[in-house]
Amino acid sequence: MAMIEVAGLAKVYETPGETVRVLEGLELEVGAGEAVAIIGPSGSGKTTLLNLLGTLDRPSDGSIRIAGHDVAGYAAAAASRFRNRSLGFVFQQHHLLPQLNVLENVLVPRLAGTWEEAAADTERRARDLLLKVGLAPRLEHLPWQLSGGEKLRVGVARALVNRPSLLLADEPTGLLDPTATERVADLLLQLNREEGVTMIVVTHNTALARKIGRTFELLHGKLKEVTR
Ligand SMILES: Nc1ncnc2c1ncn2[C@@H]1O[C@H](COP(=O)(O)OP(=O)(O)O)[C@@H](O)[C@H]1O
Ligand SMILES: [Mg+2]
Repeated sequence: MAMIEVAGLAKVYETPGETVRVLEGLELEVGAGEAVAIIGPSGSGKTTLLNLLGTLDRPSDGSIRIAGHDVAGYAAAAASRFRNRSLGFVFQQHHLLPQLNVLENVLVPRLAGTWEEAAADTERRARDLLLKVGLAPRLEHLPWQLSGGEKLRVGVARALVNRPSLLLADEPTGLLDPTATERVADLLLQLNREEGVTMIVVTHNTALARKIGRTFELLHGKLKEVTR
């Protein structure tokens, strides 16, 4: 089954001074459960593409289907419901809430769901994920008491707490040293296998891209599969 089907995707930013054509005629197909890396120069449109896949922005043209849903056509409320139920986001800037501890930060996405959904297994799920990302001994730490790699791993656990079918990561290891990067790469692949979650990972790090496997380069508005 296809998780992502993108056809003829275009994104044009109109600013007062100029028109910026970022994506044009972009095609992408990713199967359910696949892990894919996207590389490309700074300014090539990688974040723009993730925002479109994540229903945070709308395309200028073309279609985006995720798990069979025509998400490009969603109105704001439907997009927000879809994001909360089906997508997980991991950012380079972790965006952890400074006043909440590790466990509480991972529980935050549950607050956007219904109480019914939130009730049953939420805390068990959060603890299980924090164990998987190696943070079981850090549950009550506040974000400032964590290393960069640990903060990122909290972000990964938080992104997965709602059991999304698609995880979108924008340069997740951009601020990490090689050892922490390697650990995050192994972790993402482990979660891809164990949780069956489809992953799109934007990265500048060729070692990370190589580890993930299937890789596309974004250049001149289009994706091209990198063959090795
Ligand atoms: N909201 C926006 N309005 C106008 N231009 C934008 C906007 N967002 C991004 N751009 C421009 O689009 C291009 C691609 O940006 P981006 O997707 O952030 O690239 P990347 O993530 O690959 O570095 C850049 O030239 C950037 O300046
Ligand atoms: Mg970017």
